[in-house]
Amino acid sequence: NQIHIFSPATVANVSCGFDVLGFCLDTIGDEMIIRKTPQKGICISKIEGYDLPFETENNVAGVSALALYNDANPDFGFEIEIYKKIKPGSGIGSSSASAAGSVFAMNELLGKPYNKTQLTNFAMKGEALASKCEHADNLAPALFGGFTLVKSLAPLQVLQLPTPKDLYAVVIHPQIEIKTSESRAILPQEIPLKNAITQWSNVGSFVHALHTEDYNLLSDSLNDVIAEPYRCQLIPYFDDVKQRALKHGALGSGISGSGPSIFSLCKGLDSAEKVKTAIQNVYSQTSIDFEIHLSKIN
Ligand code: HSE
Repeated sequence: NQIHIFSPATVANVSCGFDVLGFCLDTIGDEMIIRKTPQKGICISKIEGYDLPFETENNVAGVSALALYNDANPDFGFEIEIYKKIKPGSGIGSSSASAAGSVFAMNELLGKPYNKTQLTNFAMKGEALASKCEHADNLAPALFGGFTLVKSLAPLQVLQLPTPKDLYAVVIHPQIEIKTSESRAILPQEIPLKNAITQWSNVGSFVHALHTEDYNLLSDSLNDVIAEPYRCQLIPYFDDVKQRALKHGALGSGISGSGPSIFSLCKGLDSAEKVKTAIQNVYSQTSIDFEIHLSKIN
């Protein structure tokens, strides 16, 4: 009657795929315990780790849980405990982990009536509370795993992409907070055709590179001319971290989601370890605290 889950952090955008590409990190995530209760409705009974609202309608896990609950309409309720490990505003899908976790767990307790796309749809309601708009590029990899591409939102279509077997991610998180809504607000609403062409050529070739395990092409495709030029100014030492990562062998490096975390993709564990050491030296020499994570992408 209860389930204890790990809900992973995720990297959205992956440079070239603003709002559509994402991948899952399996070394960092939230934990949640969800149990059935005789009284109907959704109740958040415990939140540890960060100070977040307990009212169901003001909590992303609560809002996504309610979306599923109202659809399923069971004759019992659910109680949610959240052990938050992913710092809100970190750019590694903190709100998505909460939103995806509650619906994933409830679906298990209900006997899995919903598929992953339906769960992503419910979770988007919670995500929208945090980022003030519906997007699924963190939710999809949290629920499907590996790399995903959100083909469309209405109707929601998620494509699962293959992961080359030797691909690792290093994610560095300077301890400042950037709200997704603010990081979206600084983006222009229109883009020059020249930039659009560059971006869709990169996202197409990135997907091809995943399918063919072509690490050179993957590296060439990891560029962002849409969001990074505007958002990079919000992240202290972004250029230093990126240049250092590339110099030490990363395939590519960019802003994770809406920042401030910065991801680097690497071929092989040795390369990832070198990149990790090189980029942590950037923040070690400043007064900015940071966390760093290394994950194999599965
Ligand atoms: N695609 C979203 C953005 C992800 O970049 O705003 C937010 O984590």
